[in-house]
Amino acid sequence: MRRTLEDFYRDGEPPWDSGITPPELVALVEGPGALRPGQALELGCGTGTNAVYLARHGWRVSAVDLVDRAVRQAREKAAAAGADVTVLCGDATRLDEVGAPGPYDLFFDLSCYCGIPPHRRDAYAAGLTERAAPGARLLMFGYGPGAFDDSWSGVTGDELSARFSGWQLTDVTPGTNPVPTFWFTLQRTADAA
Ligand SMILES: C[S@@+](CC[C@H](N)C(=O)[O-])C[C@H]1O[C@@H](n2cnc3c(N)ncnc32)[C@H](O)[C@@H]1O
Repeated sequence: MRRTLEDFYRDGEPPWDSGITPPELVALVEGPGALRPGQALELGCGTGTNAVYLARHGWRVSAVDLVDRAVRQAREKAAAAGADVTVLCGDATRLDEVGAPGPYDLFFDLSCYCGIPPHRRDAYAAGLTERAAPGARLLMFGYGPGAFDDSWSGVTGDELSARFSGWQLTDVTPGTNPVPTFWFTLQRTADAA
């Protein structure tokens, strides 16, 4: 998995790297009822487009990615933009090793979680839960099951509801891609059991 991801970044611009901040994140940050800026953590930040966007809108931002080439590009992008972003190389399912203590008011995940192997997903959820400020949001974009030619990738609202103890799934909005995709919003509601 990591090798495949590294190949994408080594071979040039990966297909997902649009350089455009999605309107769903813009709405949360700038739209009616926008969140008050606080501390944010992006999981699977790629080359850092959205981490830079958040920093430019007053957020204190940390961002993590598994692939060091992506991390280097994200650091360069932040430096070029004059944006104060802490870009960390590491595994979103092992945040204790990454050095991202939080607490975070906002987590953002643009198609990282849906590609994480199922056996690592509880660790991902636990890492966010431990670092969530009261009322924290998680905005996640994910491909649905069956979007890719494998037997395990993808995410559903039911899965997130079951896995994220102490969070409420407050919104599921289908994406506009030709394969099933979704925007999920979760909010930290209580201490996990
Ligand atoms: C489909 S790409 C999306 C990148 C970025 N969010 C974007 O939209 O441009 C998924 C990203 O998640 C990263 N990733 C995958 N598994 C990860 C993990 N366990 N921890 C941290 N990053 C991970 C990959 O290296 C890749 O950059």
